[in-house]
Amino acid sequence: MSDDDFLLLNPGPVPLSESVRTAMDGEMVSHRSAEFEATYERAQDGLDEIFTASTLSGESTGEGTSLVLNGTATMGMEMAVSNLVGPDDEVVALVNGKFGRRFARIADRYAQVKRVEVEWGQSFDLDAVEEAVTDDTALVTVVHNETSTGLLNPVSAIGDITADHDALFVVDGVTSVGGDVFRIDDWGVDVAITDGQKALAAPPGISAIFVTDRAAAVARERNEASDGEGIPFYSDMAWHLRKAESHQTPFTSAVPLFRALAVAVEEIHEEGMPNRIERHRRQAKAFQEGFAALGLDPFPETEGPTVRSNTLTAMSLPESIRGDDSTAFFDAVKERNVSISGGQAHLGGDIFRVSNMGNLTPDQIARGVRTVGEALVDVGVDCDPEAGVTAVRDVLGE
Ligand SMILES: Cc1ncc(COP(=O)(O)O)c(C=O)c1O
Repeated sequence: MSDDDFLLLNPGPVPLSESVRTAMDGEMVSHRSAEFEATYERAQDGLDEIFTASTLSGESTGEGTSLVLNGTATMGMEMAVSNLVGPDDEVVALVNGKFGRRFARIADRYAQVKRVEVEWGQSFDLDAVEEAVTDDTALVTVVHNETSTGLLNPVSAIGDITADHDALFVVDGVTSVGGDVFRIDDWGVDVAITDGQKALAAPPGISAIFVTDRAAAVARERNEASDGEGIPFYSDMAWHLRKAESHQTPFTSAVPLFRALAVAVEEIHEEGMPNRIERHRRQAKAFQEGFAALGLDPFPETEGPTVRSNTLTAMSLPESIRGDDSTAFFDAVKERNVSISGGQAHLGGDIFRVSNMGNLTPDQIARGVRTVGEALVDVGVDCDPEAGVTAVRDVLGE
């Protein structure tokens, strides 16, 4: 890749490898054909490994079923909540960013929601979580890696609290699964959700959900007891689980996207999850130190069990270019054929975010940091882009 090529550094969608991209280009087949079933099976095998063996040692941490969904991760979040609880059930939703809020909003439509909310970017107070989750709680939702703020939430500790009250634990692993440690059994996770277009480095429009046997039993029992009443039709988890046994989906599958996902998870298998996690951690450090060498501050500076993400980096913009003044900075980045993200909702104009998901190379990371530095210089911020590049190279040893 040359320095003039387009560089996509948004926290999803992420760049695709050549083989993932070309996998979408084959002859169309029926979603009821043996060819399609073989594709779905490859995707499921890869996902099973990624969901359960995203550990530094490669050890496996749980059992269940991987489902692939024709829709982005929000579909998976909604499928989990809507199949596992009903209107009289209590859901405790943990919110410290945009996607935690989305989970709470989804749950509002299906159950009684109690929010444990802190300012976006702040750490959860585990005492407050402990107080909120009781024996009356049916289900707890949390986002593992909060993409809107670049933070990693303490899923393990929250899982312990959830398990003490025998509630179901549904975790959004959309920007962590495939790039960071994820432990199903040890963290007491019942359902985990991820998205193709994030750390799996597949295209957008397809997501995956891992359903443990305990959660599957709840979904099946609820479905049978109500004869399907109150259970969503397109996102009927029990139906998806039944069809998945023969590597099929209830409805027409997005065949090209399934093919791309099958290749993407096989590429992850080749790299190996332990290597992949270590690489993402190194690269996150390179981004963080590169931006620090430009004189930028991380967003936010957390205290407590929530820590900085390994799969994306969020930084505060210098005071002098916040708000409307940030437009010139983002334009200057875009002029260099690099795409990064700003803050979402009320954080717009305050921060920027870059992805570290998928298969970035050291040169691409160095280019990302240099580009941010040059754009800052363009808008009058005093910094040395080459100092940023040197810091990246020091971490990555290139
Ligand atoms: C943590 C997290 N959860 C959920 C989603 C929802 O994804 P989508 O809007 O593509 O459905 C995203 C997307 O960025 C995300 O980052």
